[in-house]
Amino acid sequence: MGLQRKLLCLLLAVCVSQCVAIDRSSFPVGFQLGFSTSAYQFEGAAYEDGKGLSIWDTFCKIPGKILGGGNGDVAADVYHRYKEDIQILKSLGTDVFRFSIGWPRVFPGGSRRHGKVNLKGVQYYNNFINELIENGIEPIATIFHWDVPQVLEDEYGGFRSKKILDDFGEFADFCFKQFGDRVKKWVTVNEPSIFATHGYLNGINAPGRCSPPNGNCTGGDSSREPYIVAHNLLLAHTRAVKIYRTKYQEKQKGMIGISLHSDWYMPYSSSQEDVDATQRVLDNTFGLYMDPIVFGDYPLSVKQLVRDRLPVFTDQESKDIKGSFDFIGINHYVTTYVMDNSTFVPPPPSDNPSQEEPDDPKLPDTFAITTSKKNGVDIGPSEGGVEYWKAYPRGIKLLLDYIRTKYGNPPIYITEIGYVTQDNGQPVEDLLQDTDRIQYIKDTLNFTLLAMREGADIRGFLLWSYIDNFEWDSGYPFRLGLYYVNYNDDLQRIPKASANWFREAMNQSLRNN
Ligand code: NOJ
Repeated sequence: MGLQRKLLCLLLAVCVSQCVAIDRSSFPVGFQLGFSTSAYQFEGAAYEDGKGLSIWDTFCKIPGKILGGGNGDVAADVYHRYKEDIQILKSLGTDVFRFSIGWPRVFPGGSRRHGKVNLKGVQYYNNFINELIENGIEPIATIFHWDVPQVLEDEYGGFRSKKILDDFGEFADFCFKQFGDRVKKWVTVNEPSIFATHGYLNGINAPGRCSPPNGNCTGGDSSREPYIVAHNLLLAHTRAVKIYRTKYQEKQKGMIGISLHSDWYMPYSSSQEDVDATQRVLDNTFGLYMDPIVFGDYPLSVKQLVRDRLPVFTDQESKDIKGSFDFIGINHYVTTYVMDNSTFVPPPPSDNPSQEEPDDPKLPDTFAITTSKKNGVDIGPSEGGVEYWKAYPRGIKLLLDYIRTKYGNPPIYITEIGYVTQDNGQPVEDLLQDTDRIQYIKDTLNFTLLAMREGADIRGFLLWSYIDNFEWDSGYPFRLGLYYVNYNDDLQRIPKASANWFREAMNQSLRNN
C-alpha cells in the first residue's frame, strides 16, 4: 500500500465514529442499502388463506418458550399491511428489500406429496414482489428462514433427515419458477448455524431439542444433532443452488447465495491459548459453513475436535458444495471475547463453561463487549437479556477483513445488521429516542466503508429491520426496528429517531435505481 493510501486509511480509521458524516454519497453508485425481514417474524396471518403450520407455530404455543409468551400469529401483520409498509420503505430510500417466502404458506404440507400448492399464498408473494418493484425496490428472497412445515417435522424429523432434501428442492424449484422472473437475488438458507444450535443444541428455538432434558427441551442429542442438521442444511443449500444453476440462472440472470451468521470473536488475552481458542470458535461457528461452501469441506480443527460426530461429505457432495454461491450474505450483530478452556464442541462438560464473562474486563472504553456463556453459541437472549446484544461496531470490519483474506474476497451482501433495544415497559417516547441505534448504524456503515476501501467486495448493507417484529424466543420485547410498532393497540408504525436520521442521510439524489 502506498504511503498516501496508508495515511488516508489511518485518517479514516481515526475519524470513524468521531468526525465522518456518513450518508448515501459516501458509497459508490450501485451499492445497495435496505432492510431484511422473514415471514414468521413479520407476516402474521398464521391461520389465514390456507397457510399450513410450521414448527414455529407449534413451538410458540408451548408455555414458557417465548419471552412474554408471544407468538407470530399476528406479528407485525405485514400480510395485511404490506402496501403501507412498502410506502414506508420507499420513504426511507430503500434500494433492496429481503423477505422470506413462507414454506408452509406456499406448501401447507411441505411438498406436493402432502397436498397442493396454496394458490392464495403464491398470490400474496406475487403481489408483494410486484408492489416492491413498482415502488423501485429490488426484492431479495430467502427460501428457508426457519419455518419447517410441521408435517415434515412429524413425518421424518425435519432437518434431522436427508429426506428433507427432496422436499426442500421441490419448494426451491417452485420459488425459482414462480418468482424468478422478478427476483434476481436468492438466499437459500438463513443462518444455518443458529437454526442448528438454538434448535438442537440448547433447544431455545424450534423445534426445541437438546440433551440432557432441561427446562428448555425434552428430547434430542446435543452432541450429534446440531452437526447432522448443519450438514443437511448445507446439502439443502447445495441442492437449491444446483437446481437454480441448471434450470433457471441462465435465463433469469440472477444471483444465488446463503446468509451466514457470524459474531466477530476476539481473544480475551494475547495468550496463545486464547488465540487458538478464538480460531476454534470461529471455525466451529462461521467456518463450519463457510469452509465447505468455499473450499468443499469442513475446517480441519472442527474435524479433529468433533471426529465421528461430524458427518462426512461424499466426493460428489464436496464437489457440488464447493463454489456454490454467487455471493455470501453476512448477518452480524455482536462481538464476543473468547477464553481458552472453550468447550465449544458439544456435549458441554459441566465443569468447564466456555467463554466466561471476564470478571475484571480491563477494556478500553470504546470496547462494548459481549460474552456468550452458553458454549459460545451466539446470543442467548432468554438467559442473558440485553447484555448479549452489546455491540462493537468495529467487529463488522474485522469480520469482513477476515473473510476477504481467508476466503478469497467473495462478493458480500451484509444481509443483516442491527441494534436491539429491550422494551421493559419504559415510556414509548424513550424507545423512540434511539440515539444509540443511530450511532451504531453510522459506525457500522463507516467500518463497512473502510473495509471496502481496503479492497473488500461489499455490495450492500441491509438493516434488521425497518419495523419492530417478533424476535423468536425473545418475543416482542426485543425491538430492532427503525419504526416502533404499537403492539398494544393497532400495530401502528411510529418512526423512531433512527428512521428520521436514516431517511435524511440515505434518501438522496444519488439513489441507485
Ligand atoms: C438473525 C435472524 O436471521 C433473524 O431472524 C433475527 O430476528 C435477527 N438476526 C435478529 O436476531
